[in-house]
Amino acid sequence: MAEIVVEAYNLVKIYKAADLEVVALQGLDLRVPQGEMLALMGPSGAGKSTLLNILGGLDEPSAGRCEVAGVDLTRLTRSERLHYRRRVVGHVWQQTSRNLLSDLSLIDNVMTPMIMAGYPGDKRKRATELLERVGLGHRLNNKPEKLSGGEQQRGALAVALANEPPLLLADEPTGELDSVTASDILKLLRELNKDLGLTTIVVTHDAHVASAMDRSVAIRDGRTSTEVVHSEEAEETVIIDGVGRLQIPRALLESIPFGGRARVHFADDHLELWPAGPGIERNGK
Ligand SMILES: Nc1ncnc2c1ncn2[C@@H]1O[C@H](COP(=O)(O)OP(=O)(O)OP(=O)(O)O)[C@@H](O)[C@H]1O
Ligand SMILES: [Mg+2]
Repeated sequence: MAEIVVEAYNLVKIYKAADLEVVALQGLDLRVPQGEMLALMGPSGAGKSTLLNILGGLDEPSAGRCEVAGVDLTRLTRSERLHYRRRVVGHVWQQTSRNLLSDLSLIDNVMTPMIMAGYPGDKRKRATELLERVGLGHRLNNKPEKLSGGEQQRGALAVALANEPPLLLADEPTGELDSVTASDILKLLRELNKDLGLTTIVVTHDAHVASAMDRSVAIRDGRTSTEVVHSEEAEETVIIDGVGRLQIPRALLESIPFGGRARVHFADDHLELWPAGPGIERNGK
């Protein structure tokens, strides 16, 4: 069994703005084994970025459990959080401009996180090797503005990996790229995953991007809902969480008139759900 890098259990995130509360995650479970490439999908507002921000140590969960590479994210001190963000996770954003410091050359961009984390070795050498690894060996001294969108995202990957984090998080990393450039980035992500055993979580709206991952998990209304393991016989399954909840996909709900409740038949090795409809039980059978 592979080691578990991400373990979230019953994760809750509530944003409070003035007198308004938004429940962005409502009891989300997720386990990601070491070396997996996972796609997070789901409609806008479902909680994908919220989850990624928590896993990235940028935001704190309101309740529940969340561990990444053995670090408990619910009880970090300020300095532990900084250490976590510098060493345990690498983050790549959709906006190419958010990933790189515009005043610094590419190589200085990659060396910056190493300097902040006190990397003990030869920083320039490692930064050069990393940039060569992502195909930017000829661009070391260029500033980001001189680079194409795809080159900037390659540079962003080098920055994210500077301190050898075990987990890479990417929020729509190919969202601003054309499809050819995007598929180059996906290829690179897969190579890095293979070479470094890097566990990778990618948020995406793009089914093509998701199908390049090992597994995709859909988040709906702040919970993991369905998943597809991209093996030869890819089949969508419904996730049953740690406390026995499942979300029936909307299309199925619309095609069968459950009316808010179901009768459960236990049939030896499986369960059947039959529409019960509101009030049927109350009126007696
Ligand atoms: N800082 C915040 N303050 C208040 N509400 C927030 C904050 N961040 C997110 N939310 C709310 O939490 C919910 C989940 O948002 P989130 O950004 O995680 O969605 P998402 O799945 O990433 O959507 P998208 O696909 O549009 O990026 C939304 O209702 C959103 O409005
Ligand atoms: Mg988002």
